[in-house]
Amino acid sequence: MKENLIKLAKEHGTPLFILDHAKIRENFQTFKKNLPNVQAYYAVKANSNQEIIKTLFNEGASFDVASYNEFMQIYNQIKTFKKAEKDFFIWDKIIFSNTIKDKDTLRKIKKYKPLVTYDNADEVDKIKENCETAGLVLRLKVPDTGSQVEMSSKFGAEPSDAAGLIKRVFDSGLAVEGLSFHVGSQCTNFDNYAVALQITAEIFNEARKKGYNLKIVDIGGGFPAAYDSNVPRFERLAEVIESEIKRLFPADIEIIAEPGRFMVATAAVLVSEIIGKAVRNGKIFYHINDGVYHTFSGIVYDHWIPNFQPFKSGETEVCAVVGPTCDSFDKISLSEQLPRNLQIGDYLYTENIGAYSTASSTKFNGFEGAIILHINQ
Ligand SMILES: Cc1ncc(COP(=O)(O)O)c(C=O)c1O
Repeated sequence: MKENLIKLAKEHGTPLFILDHAKIRENFQTFKKNLPNVQAYYAVKANSNQEIIKTLFNEGASFDVASYNEFMQIYNQIKTFKKAEKDFFIWDKIIFSNTIKDKDTLRKIKKYKPLVTYDNADEVDKIKENCETAGLVLRLKVPDTGSQVEMSSKFGAEPSDAAGLIKRVFDSGLAVEGLSFHVGSQCTNFDNYAVALQITAEIFNEARKKGYNLKIVDIGGGFPAAYDSNVPRFERLAEVIESEIKRLFPADIEIIAEPGRFMVATAAVLVSEIIGKAVRNGKIFYHINDGVYHTFSGIVYDHWIPNFQPFKSGETEVCAVVGPTCDSFDKISLSEQLPRNLQIGDYLYTENIGAYSTASSTKFNGFEGAIILHINQ
């Protein structure tokens, strides 16, 4: 593998973000195999590269979009479909999972009869006024204890408000299609899913008793990527989810999920290059040509912990690895165990960097960000 990475870096230049589509397909199939009753909507936000969308589209994935632009990225894949097929695809395979949508977006998607989430009363009124064709999914606030990225401080209706929010939708002449939650991203505490399903089931079953025909249970994202051997196995989580759903819900529900990170995190490796070397306060600083404003943006937005591997061996010590911009905030890691003999022009590689990385990269200081190379497409 190492020789191949060096070869590709020499051929294409650095920083080089190598995206392995065979791994994306494998992740999708692993998800499907372990959760056969769950329709997987890839959360485009994790990595919105159009080639990823194409690969997952060809595998038969559905899609979770956060904005009109993400919606159009999926629409691009189906624009040649006949009207009836297109309408079916949009209704069955796309969900707008952002609980807050601006009026303009709602007006633009009205003609498509979209499935959209909400978590508050003002949103119901806004949807009614600007997109009355929509089907609604109520997002609930659930525990996200221990997840790498929490969600519940910004999203989700209090379970105690759910009945009122469901009634409000039906009273306004719209329909609630189902309930959703998100247990936080990179959720390694599987109890979060068990508790969320319990909360959701109580509200779901109560609503059905009142005659509201809810159909969908959306278990969100959060499925942990196997960054290292400490991450509990997805297969075990799948067992928890399957058995809890069977125990708590009627058999006729549709279960959907919005996995983002799980599909793409392990599908990319980044090769960066050392462009400067300095000793600061007695510590070696390797300055590389990628940083926190670029492919390592997940350190800021995703609480991601980076990893670096050298291609050369040598006696190691604790070093800093920092980005190329003039901002002193652009420090990727202050504690990497790396050989002290690395030189300008040497490469480093970083594994499992496919999710929430290039997606939030900027062009700060005029640096373009990594070259993206697709393999095994
Ligand atoms: C509503 C929603 N669904 C799904 C996801 C994807 O989550 P993950 O990457 O943890 O699977 C996110 C991530 O922010 C989200 O906000």
